[in-house]
Amino acid sequence: MEQVKSTSYPKEKISILLLENISDAAVAEFTTAGYSVRKLTGALSEADLINEIKDVHLLGIRSKTQVTRKVLEAAKKLQAIGCFCIGTNQVDLKAATEQGVAVFNAPYSNTRSVAELVIGLSIVLIRRIVDKNAAAHNGVWMKEAKGSYELRGKTLGIVGYGNIGSQVSVLAENMGMNVMYYDAETKLPLGNAVQQRSLKELFEQADIISLHVPSNRSTEMMINRETLSYVKKGAIFLNYARGEVVDLEALKESLESGQLSGAAVDVFPVEPEKNGAAFSTPLQKLSNVILTPHIGGSTEEAQHNIGLDVSAKLLNYLEKGASFGSHTVPAISVPPIENTHRILHVHQNVPGVLSAINTALSENKINILGQYLKTNDQIGYVVLDVDRQLSQEALALLKEVKHTIKARLLY
Ligand SMILES: NC(=O)c1ccc[n+]([C@@H]2O[C@H](COP(=O)([O-])OP(=O)(O)OC[C@H]3O[C@@H](n4cnc5c(N)ncnc54)[C@H](O)[C@@H]3O)[C@@H](O)[C@H]2O)c1
Repeated sequence: MEQVKSTSYPKEKISILLLENISDAAVAEFTTAGYSVRKLTGALSEADLINEIKDVHLLGIRSKTQVTRKVLEAAKKLQAIGCFCIGTNQVDLKAATEQGVAVFNAPYSNTRSVAELVIGLSIVLIRRIVDKNAAAHNGVWMKEAKGSYELRGKTLGIVGYGNIGSQVSVLAENMGMNVMYYDAETKLPLGNAVQQRSLKELFEQADIISLHVPSNRSTEMMINRETLSYVKKGAIFLNYARGEVVDLEALKESLESGQLSGAAVDVFPVEPEKNGAAFSTPLQKLSNVILTPHIGGSTEEAQHNIGLDVSAKLLNYLEKGASFGSHTVPAISVPPIENTHRILHVHQNVPGVLSAINTALSENKINILGQYLKTNDQIGYVVLDVDRQLSQEALALLKEVKHTIKARLLY
């Protein structure tokens, strides 16, 4: 079992501020670990956050709180920010890196929510429920079997076989589907899924196509007139990935011509910021098309998992110096080692810092038992395991090392 060390800094002095009504699952993780938490239901403005953040060691936010450079400059004690959501756009990552503040999020906590919905919508589309449902609401009886199919035996073509794509693959095989996928990388198939060498090969065989690629230069508009011309007549198309991946005009044409017989789209190149705001897309009012407001991953379970995931990352960083998953501090994950004391040092990534740290320690007759360094373009992060507890004088010396951003005595 992994040894649990007690931290040098008293837990009651650690200030944890959670904004935007972060899940109680996260609060429970912190309180079980012996910390007290201040939880606010709303987001804070920049000015209010600057006031509140001065003594905060850990900050938890969701997507509404903007953590700007000014906020970070006021956050003298801040060790880490937990974004209890999927993205980290709301944090000035460059400024956070410069300040040596670790930034964590939960990119994969809603994987299952998306995967389940893709399967559910595939059934709804292949059975042509959308139009029958609309007709029934309008007082029209539309009972017919023509054009309605089972999923069993159909071929699902997955574009992007990552976390979500591979989960969809497993669920689809359990529904009796044949699964094929196209990915930029060679990916080990789960179950009987078969990787295809090109999007063309995949589209030519798939009855249902589902996108699960990220938004980047290689995927921008990857679904366009040309790629859509490869699809089987009557195929169904789902985009629960990112809006920039699809040319919506080309998708509309394909649906209107009957090349595609249905589609479900959750993500759009431009999405309204607020609930209730006007929204328009070329796909509105098309037959057998389901439009949803970017809710593929929005479930209670995903929120709960996000709470557990991000609080675990924050606690691991606070108590062990483990920065794995951070977008700013380079990733190091070393379990605590018996009979050692741990020091964490974040510095600007320039030559000579490590030897200056070692000199400061040897001058204090402190033996280094383990030393782990990782750097990125801007900063370096060192986890040092030493044989004696660092005195306050030695810690002060380390803080004086040129180019130091932060130094922390962990235990
Ligand atoms: N609708 C929602 O609410 C929602 C929720 C969660 C995730 N998402 C989106 O779903 C997508 C997939 O998420 P994930 O967690 O599975 O990501 P992931 O990083 O685990 O997987 C992405 C896969 O796409 C592959 N890929 C990248 N570029 C490619 C290219 N040009 N051609 C083919 N394959 C390529 C990668 O190799 C990887 O296997 C992302 O765009 C994510 O933002 C949407």
